Amino acid sequence: IPHISLFLFCFLLSTENLLVLTVATKETEGFTRFKRSAQFFNYKIQVLGLDEEWHGEDDKAAAGGGQKVRLLKSALKQHADKEDLIILFTESYDVLFASGPAELLKKFKQAKSKVVFSAENFIYPDRRLEAKYPQVRDGKRFLGSGGFIGYAPNLNKLVEDWKGQDNDSDQLFYTNIFLDPEKRVRVRESCCFRHTWYEVVLKFENSRVRARNLLYDTLPVMIHGNGPTKLQLNYLGNYIPRIWTFETGCTVCDEDGRSLTGYKVRTDLLPFILIGIFIEQPTPFFSQFLKRLQTLHYPKKRTQLFIHNHEEHHRLQVDTFVKEHGKEYHAIKVIGPDEQLENAEARHLGIMAPHGLQIWKSFTCPPMVKPFPTIFPSPCTHRQVIAPLVSRHGKLWSNFWGALSPEGYYARSEDYVDIVQRRRVGIWNVPYISNIYLIKGKTLRSELDQGNLFQSSKLDADMAFCQNVRDRGVFMFLTNRHSFGHILSLENYETTHLHNDLWQIFSNPEDWEEKYIHENYTAALKGKLVEMPCPDVYWFPIFTDTACDELVEEMENFGQWSAGGNVDNRIQGGYENVPTIDIHMNQIRFEREWYKFLLEYIAPITEKLYPGYYTKTQFELAFVVRYRPDEQPSLVPHHDASTFTINIALNHVGIDYEGGGCRFLRYNCSVRAPRKGWTLMHPGRLTHYHEGLPTTKGTRYIAVSFLDP
Ligand SMILES: *[C@@H]1O[C@H](CO)[C@@H](O)[C@H](O)[C@H]1NC(C)=O
Ligand SMILES: *[C@@H]1O[C@H](CO)[C@@H](O)[C@H](O)[C@H]1NC(C)=O
Ligand SMILES: *[C@@H]1O[C@H](CO)[C@@H](O)[C@H](O)[C@H]1NC(C)=O
Repeated sequence: IPHISLFLFCFLLSTENLLVLTVATKETEGFTRFKRSAQFFNYKIQVLGLDEEWHGEDDKAAAGGGQKVRLLKSALKQHADKEDLIILFTESYDVLFASGPAELLKKFKQAKSKVVFSAENFIYPDRRLEAKYPQVRDGKRFLGSGGFIGYAPNLNKLVEDWKGQDNDSDQLFYTNIFLDPEKRVRVRESCCFRHTWYEVVLKFENSRVRARNLLYDTLPVMIHGNGPTKLQLNYLGNYIPRIWTFETGCTVCDEDGRSLTGYKVRTDLLPFILIGIFIEQPTPFFSQFLKRLQTLHYPKKRTQLFIHNHEEHHRLQVDTFVKEHGKEYHAIKVIGPDEQLENAEARHLGIMAPHGLQIWKSFTCPPMVKPFPTIFPSPCTHRQVIAPLVSRHGKLWSNFWGALSPEGYYARSEDYVDIVQRRRVGIWNVPYISNIYLIKGKTLRSELDQGNLFQSSKLDADMAFCQNVRDRGVFMFLTNRHSFGHILSLENYETTHLHNDLWQIFSNPEDWEEKYIHENYTAALKGKLVEMPCPDVYWFPIFTDTACDELVEEMENFGQWSAGGNVDNRIQGGYENVPTIDIHMNQIRFEREWYKFLLEYIAPITEKLYPGYYTKTQFELAFVVRYRPDEQPSLVPHHDASTFTINIALNHVGIDYEGGGCRFLRYNCSVRAPRKGWTLMHPGRLTHYHEGLPTTKGTRYIAVSFLDP
């Protein structure tokens, strides 16, 4: 026991002798993260230069830096004679601790030097000095000024000769000392404690996580960002120094980030939000998107809309929406296709639009997000930019990147799949977001108030935006704490039809189903709600009103109604005897989609209702029939040229027409009041000899398909 306490005593003593010095002129999010990690591991830190103006060039990372040496020099004076004090000097915006002081000190002592600098792969800022650098057997060769550790008196000696300007290079200063044998300051570089993010992987063990450097097979004490993801520090910052946290959210915050939910808030006290909607390419199910926008849980009187519609294709929908709902909003601004505004320029205008009271501005670009998140993610307090996770149905394609490659393009992070599939839930610092995100108004007026964030000579608008946000030290977050919706597939969207969404059954099947399949179809599939008005004639809901209306309008738009005009009719025995006024699915190039519909929605229910019968819903004939008193009011008794037939009513009896219905002669049984969106299903060629009852007023439409195994 005495041994152990002695050991503990030594341990405490030694870590007590460590002081971390860092320069930070602003309390950025990166700095906050650094501080959090330092506190977690119990480092003693002293911050130099806070709130001082920074005299360096922000965009050239390592140019300048002399200010840091000046600040360090003055701070070290008071420690000059503390022989035992070990000082770690480090950058902080793009650095975090991954381990505690004991390990750091152990590694420092192993290096057997008075001062140890972190090493870099590249020489900066003066490349001509390369020849003077000693060769190293492995590891990095060049000095970096971002982090070094040493005894206080030695460090003091190192910087006491500094007479440079604030904008001179600190790195060059240290490099010259390192390379000058006259100075006789023993400086040794080593990769023993500081590691670059892309060399590091995370090892998850139960609820613990530890970073490991694969290159050197060591456990880093500090990790620093580098390259395009410098400040985001890749996704490592999400886990280090601690396990990711679940955060309790709030829906609306006031100017100081206090939650306003849970209080009875007067609507006129709620902050203004601005929603930017950017329609940058033809987008399916746009009408559904607008419907969802209407259901957003936020008072419209406190909401402003900014709509940039680049597409002629959506002009009517946007105009109609503005006409019908514009007045409900606090303000609404539309930039139409005529104005021929570049997308990046429009987004810039949108972001800069009305300055004033608004706190959050939210963005949806392009608007293929759906269902539109009715719960706004809640970027309280320190979240300045946050995106709700949306991905394609059942796919890994989403609106964020977990990591960047060192060149700044997409890289899959170790946790990407888990976050998309919501196996890990939380709020994540990520380097790239798109499609939908929220930005704090205050941030737009401060950190991000510098020119067009979306403009870049090389990058697309989304990548440009993210790069600019990253460069300005603002963190982007992604939340997957709720299911916020999904992204549509925009490939294969045809715009040549009247109702193009009808053709989306392959590309966006879930959205297609939601828009077109009757809400009670699933109940019917379970055998509920299925009626049998005549023997072996089943009757169940299949289409929404919208599906019926769009199909009829599509046919009327095509317009080539004819009586048995289709060659196929004559091939089918019996059918030519009873020609109808119709348009076939193949005439509007809808047969592939119709076949898919039959296979997906009719086949399963057929097999339920006629047990032992299996169908691949092969069909020769599928068409929409029009009955009118003055054209063709009825159909004489006939057999269908099919094993079974479906007959879907496409409009409302009593509203759109009178009369109509279907009579099965063998059973002396009629279905007289067909319900819109419901289908009849009955056997074809043998037992169910039937006739179409006369339509006495208006126009009646039905969709008929003759089906075989
Ligand atoms: C550094 O700043 C001084 C004055 O503040 C200026 O004269 C000089 O040109 C600057 N040097 C560089 C390299 O920017
Ligand atoms: C679906 O079924 C329920 C219960 O029978 C009914 O109340 C509802 O109106 C039906 N929905 C439609 C669109 O007909
Ligand atoms: C058919 O049914 C109607 C009433 O539903 C009835 O009046 C008529 O007599 C029936 N005809 C035959 C042939 O059974």
